[in-house]
Amino acid sequence: MNSEAFVQELLGPVHDFCRSLDLQPPAYSYIPLNTDEERIRVMQSRLFNELRAADLFGTWLKTTPELDVKATMAESAHEEMVHADLLSKRIRDLGAEPFDYKPLPAQIAMFNAMEGLNDTCERIAGLSLAGETVANYLIQMCLKSPSVPEWIKQPYRRITEDEEGHGSVPREFLKRYATTEERQDRVRRAVAMRMVLFREYLASLDRWAMGKDRW
Ligand SMILES: [Fe+2]
Ligand SMILES: [Fe+2]
Repeated sequence: MNSEAFVQELLGPVHDFCRSLDLQPPAYSYIPLNTDEERIRVMQSRLFNELRAADLFGTWLKTTPELDVKATMAESAHEEMVHADLLSKRIRDLGAEPFDYKPLPAQIAMFNAMEGLNDTCERIAGLSLAGETVANYLIQMCLKSPSVPEWIKQPYRRITEDEEGHGSVPREFLKRYATTEERQDRVRRAVAMRMVLFREYLASLDRWAMGKDRW
């Protein structure tokens, strides 16, 4: 399949997933939350994501032979650390401890599964293309919502500037490198895996952040 059509095909289910969240925005978007206690929980969870993403980008450097991808991963690792810093400061401003947080089982599973991806294209597809597309969509929802307080929107305005770039760059890399049937098949599976795991993480975060479940 030609690479342009391939990338369009990949994005179809990712965009469908994003739209499916419109009617009932998840806790991840901060929109349904009513108290600062709930909002801090979500921010702690999302701080963990930033750090774990930095870890993955850094861990993959040595096993990424494509120099352009390697350079972007190194940059992304740094950016994710900057995001982590913004969120941890914001949580401290509110008088809470940013790292007083135990990752949700579904969240651990999601990142461990991505860490197990061994091919450059699978990694880009799972972590960046699928994950960051959904994350950015939810950040935009958050920024537009009148029910989200300004103290939350502030760090995300800064984060979204970086993350927008993370959306288009992976598309270009996949067009460049996912050029064989075999690689394209692995990429499709990595995106599907990430969507399954992301859905479960969002559902667990809904339950836990809004106090309906132990996690
Ligand atoms: Fe980030
Ligand atoms: Fe990112």
